[in-house]
Amino acid sequence: MLISDILHKKRNSQKLTFEEIKYVISSYTAGKIPDYQMSAFLMAAFINGFTSVETGFLTKAMLESGETMDLSGIEGVKIDKHSTGGVGDGTSLVIAPLAASCGVIVPMMSGRSLGHTGGTLDKLESIPGFRVNLSKEEFIHQLKKIGVAMAGQTDKIAPADKKMYALRDVTATVDSIPLIASSIMSKKLAEGCDGLVLDVKTGSGAFMKEKTMAKRLAKEMIGISKSFGKKAIALITDMNQPLGYAVGNSLEVKQAIDIMKGEGPKDLVNLIIEISSRMLFIAGEKNTKKSKTLLENNLKNGKALMKFKEIIEYQSGDTGAVDNPEKILPKAQKTLEILSVEEGFVEYADTKLVGDAANLLGAGRLTKEDTINHGAGIVLKKKQGERISRKEPLATFCFDNGASIEEAKLKFTESIKITKTTPKKLSLIYEKLETL
Ligand code: URA
Repeated sequence: MLISDILHKKRNSQKLTFEEIKYVISSYTAGKIPDYQMSAFLMAAFINGFTSVETGFLTKAMLESGETMDLSGIEGVKIDKHSTGGVGDGTSLVIAPLAASCGVIVPMMSGRSLGHTGGTLDKLESIPGFRVNLSKEEFIHQLKKIGVAMAGQTDKIAPADKKMYALRDVTATVDSIPLIASSIMSKKLAEGCDGLVLDVKTGSGAFMKEKTMAKRLAKEMIGISKSFGKKAIALITDMNQPLGYAVGNSLEVKQAIDIMKGEGPKDLVNLIIEISSRMLFIAGEKNTKKSKTLLENNLKNGKALMKFKEIIEYQSGDTGAVDNPEKILPKAQKTLEILSVEEGFVEYADTKLVGDAANLLGAGRLTKEDTINHGAGIVLKKKQGERISRKEPLATFCFDNGASIEEAKLKFTESIKITKTTPKKLSLIYEKLETL
């Protein structure tokens, strides 16, 4: 097989066979195809698209580029969730312990912050000592012992994706539905879970700005799950405003702990319950009302929090973060209140800019080499549609010396509009797709 023949075919919008796709992926992973030919392949795929069948082939080839986890020795139904990324999306921090406290086995493998979106691994690492780099053996051992583990993907899981993602990042080929679907699903299928709940975000703070695109991505991922014999539910959810009030690593962990103490922002709590109840549904509890009551109870009676503490303990973190978050979690030295310059109603005009502003304060990476300031970020004071007076705080910036405050202020100010009439009310969930 010749890579130039395959490139020629895709350039002319012809369909590729599994053997051809497998050849490209395995040769690239082994270093036998240079970046310039892979870039051409990715761009041709981006421009001319892949059919669902080809996307399935691509997923399979990427999955087979590395090892898969065998969780069959662990009793119980293993369910993970995946979010396509948003601003203030700290749902995983609560969902993993909460679903586990209801008896679901949760093998959660997450990622780091990407662009303007936060990452669960970075949030967890704001807990002093917390280890996200678990070996396969440690991950499986923890699942057996406490029913939940929260870690990063090992280097051996879908290595093709790691290499391809780095190349996509610099060749303007990230936002392609077949490439995103195969990237996410190859990693999720390698994890060995029985089922998956996909939180596909749409809106100004999501990678998929348009609902139609989010739905196409969800359909593609559901189709892939089905072809691999996995149960999956996808929710298309709103990202036209940040979730909750906290944007930034330790700030979101503190908010997650509040939620597991029975407090916390309504929108975030509702989404957590919606996603977790679908995990319980796939695991066998078909009475959604019953599972929602159980989930709500476990947020209030401390069972989810106890499970979170167990996770922290097993992963070498300081459990004082749960009992005394104010003292143990990292905190930025400086704060700055951002005041509204006029009176009216709050409307999030571009939520991506809230994420960008938090990154400029130190909460995310601007380049791959950057280190994160775990205490930095933004505490929002208003949700979409709330009234605000002149000089009333819109948000508090948390940062340390060296943060780009002026730039962050500009981004944040641009992200919010103060309107004279109530802005459009935002739904939390737009649609549900499933294969069961
Ligand atoms: N997340 C992934 O894992 N892959 C993508 O391509 C986009 C988001």
